[in-house]
Amino acid sequence: MTSSHDPPPAASSKRGAFIVLEGLDRSGKTTQVKLLEQRFVEAGRPVKMMRFPDRSTTIGQMIDGYLKSNVEMDDHVIHLLFSANRWEAAKHINELLASGTTIVSDRYFHSGIVYSAAKGNPSLSLSWARAPERGLPRPDMVVFLDLTPEEASKRGGWGGEVYERAEMQRRVRELFRGLGGLEGEGAVERDEDVVVVDAGGGVEEVADRVWGAVEGRVGEVVRGKRGNVRVVE
Ligand code: TMP
Repeated sequence: MTSSHDPPPAASSKRGAFIVLEGLDRSGKTTQVKLLEQRFVEAGRPVKMMRFPDRSTTIGQMIDGYLKSNVEMDDHVIHLLFSANRWEAAKHINELLASGTTIVSDRYFHSGIVYSAAKGNPSLSLSWARAPERGLPRPDMVVFLDLTPEEASKRGGWGGEVYERAEMQRRVRELFRGLGGLEGEGAVERDEDVVVVDAGGGVEEVADRVWGAVEGRVGEVVRGKRGNVRVVE
């Protein structure tokens, strides 16, 4: 039996693992991404933290303007910009993974499809939203840090960005829980890469739960059992 305090196993495969943390705003996601990165650093394994949206690029700046409500944009247009913001990083992601670096990412394409679909625009379904993501490097595991919007807002209140409203956050949570195989909104198809982890409680406690959720997958990657990086289908 391994405990949740065991470090990542020593490498036998060359490629790195691709782990994504998702969660509502204020779910503690950014802290948990750093703690997960730390585990790999301490085990002496190359690791890189990423985050999406990457606001440093030209496309990222357009997204930033939208999120801060400075710019009005059609729902499909902003969706495609978020996706383009991942596509501009795709080559780099593939290179890092191929060189043996593990990536721990603060959000990725599941945020893309879920936040857009949560807007309730009838011409922007989950499947429409997924189409431009097809072909991107696929994460080995996506952890959704689950917290009710009420609990999340108690942790300091929402910021001022466009999606930081209780009703939107509630729908985002329902969709993620549906993807993770828990009861969720409507007929959301189970996504085998998504696992839901309780984000309530202390930081270390949650970090151990996150590691408990990903260590099996990381071990499979390291032992070469998951083969090359796959693409989003
Ligand atoms: P952040 O607060 O983690 O920087 O994310 C900014 C907001 O953008 C957050 O409300 C989630 C949302 N988002 C999308 O709507 N689509 C996406 O593809 C991504 C990555 C984030």
